[in-house]
Amino acid sequence: MNTANDDTINRRDFFTLSTYTAAISALFVSILGLLKFPMPGLFPEVSSAFKIGKPEDFPVGSTKVYQDKNVLVSRDAEGLYAVSLVCTHLGCIVSTTEKGFKCPCHGSVFDGVGSVIAGPAPKGLNWLDISRLPTGKLIVDTSKTVDTGTKMTV
Ligand code: FES
Repeated sequence: MNTANDDTINRRDFFTLSTYTAAISALFVSILGLLKFPMPGLFPEVSSAFKIGKPEDFPVGSTKVYQDKNVLVSRDAEGLYAVSLVCTHLGCIVSTTEKGFKCPCHGSVFDGVGSVIAGPAPKGLNWLDISRLPTGKLIVDTSKTVDTGTKMTV
């Protein structure tokens, strides 16, 4: 039996409070969604594309690893190409070796262009799209894969 100065909460009050809390939370999330719809800049999307510089930043034989993007960009005599460092087995980040790439998680080994030498990776590392902006700068898009061996002539 509750008395006037009893601070305990009964079952009915608990469920009422829980219902109000859930309703207010849902309303708050809905309002955030409505704010985002007409003003996408309010909560910017994370872009999958990033700038890598100009073609002259990549002399023939050069390689750059973008650790924060998990991408390797390399240029050989045939052109420029980008390889994802995300292992095709379960998504670990491969490390570069003298002859290619090795996954630290389950030991997959890839050659210099990302083709599988030893599993369990089911396929080679993904090659990524490189495109040129009107300014001449190059961008790599990690959401767009291209066929292995696709190189941008620069
Ligand atoms: S995640 Fe790379 S071999 Fe398993």
